[in-house]
Amino acid sequence: MARRKKVYEGKAKILYEGPEPGTLVQYFKDDATAFNAQKKDIIDGKGVLNNRLSEFFMKGLMQIGVPTHFIKRLNMREQLIRSVEIIPLEVIVRNYAAGTMSQRLGIEEGTQLPRPIIEFCLKDDALGDPLVSEEHILAFGWAGQQDLDDMIALALRVNDFMSGCMLAVGIKLVDFKIEIGRVWEGDFQRLVIADEISPDSCRLWDMETGQRLDKDVFRRDLGDLADAYTEVARRLGVLPSNVTHTTKPTLIN
Ligand code: TYD
Repeated sequence: MARRKKVYEGKAKILYEGPEPGTLVQYFKDDATAFNAQKKDIIDGKGVLNNRLSEFFMKGLMQIGVPTHFIKRLNMREQLIRSVEIIPLEVIVRNYAAGTMSQRLGIEEGTQLPRPIIEFCLKDDALGDPLVSEEHILAFGWAGQQDLDDMIALALRVNDFMSGCMLAVGIKLVDFKIEIGRVWEGDFQRLVIADEISPDSCRLWDMETGQRLDKDVFRRDLGDLADAYTEVARRLGVLPSNVTHTTKPTLIN
C-alpha cells in the first residue's frame, strides 16, 4: 500500500494528505508540550481524547452555524478536515484572569473579567508566540480589518458556546485559544475555525473545587493529565462513564 504523504508535523498533531483535493487527515499524537516545548512528555491516550473532544466541540459549533474545518472523525486518532489557509495568529479569549494575563498585569488568577477579552499572539515558535496588537496585525498584513472583525465575532460565538457547554457540566471556561483559517469558495473567501478545540488549548476549572481539568495539570505537575481529560469527556457524555483512559489490556477475571 502506498504510504500517505505527511504535509506537516506539529507538537501535538500530524497532517496527512486527504483522500480528496482540499482535504487533510489530522492525526492526534499523545505528545504533550508546554513552555514552548521546553517541557515534553508522552501521555497515553491524550490523542484519542482530544480527537473525540475536538469532534464534539466542532460538531456542536457547526450545529449553531459557526463554520469549522471539521468534516468527520475517521478513527480513534484521526479526523478528516478541510484544508484551510491558517491565519498566523492565535486568538485567545479570556473570561477569568490566568496564566500570562495574570503574570503580565498582576491580576490574581481566577478574577472574573468585566467582559470577555480577546488577545492575539503571532504564531511563531522561534519568538515564543508574542502578544501583538490589532495595529501590528494590520500594519504587517497578517490579517485585514474585515478578517479581524470576523475573527472577533467568531471567537465570541465560540466562547458563548463553549462556556455554555462547560457550565452545564460544572466546569468554568477560564480561557481558550483557537486558530482560524481561510477557505475559498469560488471568488469568495470565508473564515472557519481550524486546528483543534480541546483541553490542550483551554483552561477548565471545576466549578465546585477549582480542580484543574486542562493542560495546566501537565504544565504545573498537578496530577495525571489523561485522567483530567477523561473527566471532561465523561462529563460531556463523549465517553461512556465506565471508560478510563487506559490503553493497556486489562485482565478479566
Ligand atoms: P496564556 O495564559 O496566554 O499562556 P500560557 O498557557 O502559556 O500560560 O494562555 C491562554 C490560553 O490560551 C490558555 O488556555 C492556553 C491557550 N494557549 C494555547 O493553547 N497555545 C498557545 O500558544 C497560547 C499562547 C495559549
